[in-house]
Amino acid sequence: MSVLLLFVYGVSLAYFALTLLWFLVPAFYGLPSKPTQPNRIRKALRMAGLKEGETLYDLGAGDGRVLFIAAREFGANAVGLEVGPVQVAFVWLRILLGGAGERVRVRWANYYRADLSQADVVFIYATLRELMKLAPHLQKQMRAGTRLVSIAADFPEWEPTAFDEESLIFVYEMPPRQGSLTTYLLKRTD
Ligand SMILES: C[S@@+](CC[C@H](N)C(=O)[O-])C[C@H]1O[C@@H](n2cnc3c(N)ncnc32)[C@H](O)[C@@H]1O
Repeated sequence: MSVLLLFVYGVSLAYFALTLLWFLVPAFYGLPSKPTQPNRIRKALRMAGLKEGETLYDLGAGDGRVLFIAAREFGANAVGLEVGPVQVAFVWLRILLGGAGERVRVRWANYYRADLSQADVVFIYATLRELMKLAPHLQKQMRAGTRLVSIAADFPEWEPTAFDEESLIFVYEMPPRQGSLTTYLLKRTD
């Protein structure tokens, strides 16, 4: 009986510690651990024009949902960069359990230090503050012609090439055009 109790206690403790880490690590890096809804992801990837065989990077992969949708539904190669070790282990387990073959990969990495030169499409769901910090790194790292799709927040000094008002999705093409959402909207109403 006491062995069983000890086992239940151990499992509960491990579960509690993993849950805590799942939320604490992203918070430490200044982002909530908030996933994008699947239909919003599909719309964003369609807007970015993700094609079969292209490579998508998700900056902050979370539970890996963007990667699996990109690989399974768009036939893309998907690479997730994620700073939370529990999230990385979770995505890695999902990869092992199958479904997307070799097309999904995840790296335990800080996206500020990552090489993004192989990406055709970069996906990000972050705060405005984070995007402002990240913009110079993206501009330096991403090849000309690469599409960048941002959920919920825009890059204040760049003009998007597409914008969905209903789902708050912003698409940019590298190198970014100087401007803003306002300059984009003004051109659209001309
Ligand atoms: C808002 S969630 C988005 C998750 C996923 N991309 C989605 O859309 O469902 C942000 C994720 O970014 C991760 N993150 C935050 N800062 C990071 C950094 N510097 N490098 C890599 N990942 C980071 C967090 O751990 C979290 O999982």
